[in-house]
Amino acid sequence: MNVNIVVLAGDGIGPEVTAEAVKVLNAVAGNFGHSFTFDAQLMGGCAIDATGSSLPDATVAACRAADAVLLGAVGGPKWDNPQAADRPERGLLAIRKELNLFANLRPVKLQPQLIDASTLKREVLEGVDLLVIRELTGGAYFGPRKEAGPDGDEAYDTMLYTREEIRRVVKLAAEAAVLRRGKLASVDKANVLASSRLWRRVATEVLAEYPALHVEHVLVDAMAMHLIRRPATFDVIVAENLFGDILTDEASMLAGSMGMLPSASLGDQLNAHHLPRGMYEPIHGSAPDIAGKSIANPLGTILSAAMLLRHSLGLETEAAAIETAVERVLDDGVRTGDIAQPGMETVGTVIMGDLVVAKLR
Ligand code: IPM
Ligand code: MG
Repeated sequence: MNVNIVVLAGDGIGPEVTAEAVKVLNAVAGNFGHSFTFDAQLMGGCAIDATGSSLPDATVAACRAADAVLLGAVGGPKWDNPQAADRPERGLLAIRKELNLFANLRPVKLQPQLIDASTLKREVLEGVDLLVIRELTGGAYFGPRKEAGPDGDEAYDTMLYTREEIRRVVKLAAEAAVLRRGKLASVDKANVLASSRLWRRVATEVLAEYPALHVEHVLVDAMAMHLIRRPATFDVIVAENLFGDILTDEASMLAGSMGMLPSASLGDQLNAHHLPRGMYEPIHGSAPDIAGKSIANPLGTILSAAMLLRHSLGLETEAAAIETAVERVLDDGVRTGDIAQPGMETVGTVIMGDLVVAKLR
């Protein structure tokens, strides 16, 4: 298969972790007889420095022409000035919108080898296997806003949703739940927010078409508690943009480290293989404090590359090969610093990538 992948390495540790994922994808291409072409493009702080824009037009055009996009991370203290006209994060939100990536899939699966790397108790974590689906192009991130100017004392964001925006993401979550353990929790704050009452009404309508699913509607504050009290009782969780952002950072701690977790952002635009042109990225940020030291955990990005093969290319065998290789490296007792455990070997970013490639052979 001939595949064109845009790589947005971004800022901080982004270039370090994407380099390892590209290395792993090249190994997969060699093993399975595919041809993967990688097209490096600018987005985020590095794009502001080079072009003055966090999302240059050339990047958008390249992404639209690609089969899939692999992203590292964006942002850092260098671009943190709140008065700045552009910010790295704006580029990320804009590319999500440009590609209409309305569903962000964040699987949270505890690798049993890492159960003691978590801050939570073993008995709480046993059996955790969640798929959080976060709505990604609506809500307060994109609704009308007023920014307090230099002497303004008022600002607001608007959590705006339309029926269609809710319908399509809840339907995608329901289809995912059917293929998993048949349970779906829809998150909202319907006791207070109007947009959440619409969310619950539309979700209830959509889910009526899936009578075999076990459905529950959970208030977001209660969900924050349930996630660390009984995480193994959930299967698929669907939430609006901001709630999903917050809940997935919390849920990542169930897997031991944010560094382990991949994500896929999917929409309705199809690539040359008639599959969603997705964007794939680890859920961690650019971690400027450890950038350039080659100690970041590349496994979240490597596992994102596996999701890319599965969702944008339909290469299930190849995707599973990467996931198995990662498990086998962990079985060998090798760890990066973020998941370091007593008695195990701690390695850097590049060695971890090399070890995954070695297991693929
Ligand atoms: C994420 C990040 C982004 C978000 C930031 C970097 C804009 O936290 O992907 O979860 O809030 O969506
Ligand atoms: Mg986040």
